[in-house]
Amino acid sequence: MISHQKQVYFNLPAFSLSYGAFSFTWIMSQTTTTGTETMRLPATMRAWQWSTCSTTLEDAIELNDSVPLPTAKRSLASGESLIQVHAAALNQVDYKLAELPVVGRMAISKPATPGLDFAGKVVQVGSDCDVKVGQMVFGKLEPKQQFGTLGEYIIGSKAGTVPMPDGVSVEQAATLGVCGLVTYQCLAPNVKAGDRVLINGGSGGTGTFAIQIAKALGCYVTTTCSGKYAMFMITTTHHLISHRRKFPTVRGSRR
Ligand SMILES: NC(=O)c1ccc[n+]([C@@H]2O[C@H](COP(=O)([O-])OP(=O)(O)OC[C@H]3O[C@@H](n4cnc5c(N)ncnc54)[C@H](OP(=O)(O)O)[C@@H]3O)[C@@H](O)[C@H]2O)c1
Repeated sequence: MISHQKQVYFNLPAFSLSYGAFSFTWIMSQTTTTGTETMRLPATMRAWQWSTCSTTLEDAIELNDSVPLPTAKRSLASGESLIQVHAAALNQVDYKLAELPVVGRMAISKPATPGLDFAGKVVQVGSDCDVKVGQMVFGKLEPKQQFGTLGEYIIGSKAGTVPMPDGVSVEQAATLGVCGLVTYQCLAPNVKAGDRVLINGGSGGTGTFAIQIAKALGCYVTTTCSGKYAMFMITTTHHLISHRRKFPTVRGSRR
C-alpha cells in the first residue's frame, strides 16, 4: 500500500512537521500488558498538546508527559474502546481546524491533542464493542477531538474502529482512516471494472489512494501530477499527464 498523506514525523521528544513527505509514523512506547484480556494501564500518558494557536499548530504544540488518560474524564460508552496508539498520521484537517480562529478557539476543548488517524492495540472495551482487548485495530476519530491520535491513548468509536487485517503494518494502517475512507466512498460507488478513470492530482493524499482503489476495481487509470513525482507516478498508473507543462504530456506505462 502506498500513501502520500500530509504526514508528520514524530521523534520524541523532538517534534517536526514534514508536509508532503512519504509515509510517516510515530511508534509509541509500549505500556506493560498482562495478557489479552486485561491490560495494566498507566495513570497518565504522553501527548502532544496545544491550548492557544495564534500562528501555526506547529508553533503552538508541546509534548506533555503527564496527561490523564481520556478515560479519566469519562468512562467508555457503548461500543467504544480505549486504544493504545502505535502509529498515527496527520491529515490537513488536523492542523487547519486548529489554526482557524473561531473553530480553534471555541469548538475544541483545551488542552487539545491533534490527530484523527491511528493504528494501535485495544486495551479496554465498553459494552457492545465489536473489538476485543489485545486486538490490533485501525481507524479514525471524528474531528474536533480533545484527545487526538498524537497521544498515547485514545477513545475509538464503534463506527471508526476496525480490526487490522493480516499483512498490514501499523504504519500503513494509520494512513487509511480519513483519507483512504473518503477516497473509497467517493470513488467506489461511481465506477465499475473496465471504466476509464481520470484521477486529477494523483500524487496527493487522496490521489494515491484513488489510483490504487480504481485499479483494484478494474479501472483503466489516467492521472495528473507535477514533474517532481512523474518518475514515481508512472510506475503506479496506466497513463500520466504532467500538469506543470503548458501543453500536457501524456505518457503511458500500461501496467
Ligand atoms: N486528504 C483528505 O483526507 C481529504 C478528505 C476530503 C476531501 N479532500 C479534498 O480533496 C482534495 C485533494 O486533497 P489532498 O489531501 O489529496 O491534497 P494534496 O495531498 O495536497 O494533493 C493535491 C494534488 O493536487 C495536485 N495539483 C496541485 N496543483 C495542481 C494543478 N495546478 N493542476 C492539477 N493538479 C494540481 C498535486 O500535484 P503535485 O503535488 O504533483 O503538484 C497533488 O496531486 C482537496 O480539495 C481536499 O480538500 C481531502
